[in-house]
Amino acid sequence: MAKLIFEDTGEEHELEDDAPIAEICEEAGVPFACTEGICGTCVIEVEEGMENLSEFTQEEEDFLGDLDTERLACQCKIKSGCVKVKF
Ligand code: FES
Repeated sequence: MAKLIFEDTGEEHELEDDAPIAEICEEAGVPFACTEGICGTCVIEVEEGMENLSEFTQEEEDFLGDLDTERLACQCKIKSGCVKVKF
């Protein structure tokens, strides 16, 4: 099992390994629009555990300026372990 933590609220969610994080992020209040990695609405900041997220998609590489801390929630999956994000 993997765990996604929202820094703002302290909410913790358990997810299957390799699960997409979009749905949980949406429930937590991250805004979504295109869901295809194009608009950038769903950008989140990764505070801890970037290595536990899937590889960057081409859309993320094209859109994001800072590949050290930012991800598009509609694009990435959690591989395993713990990831802490804020938005
Ligand atoms: S919802 Fe548009 S980039 Fe994620």
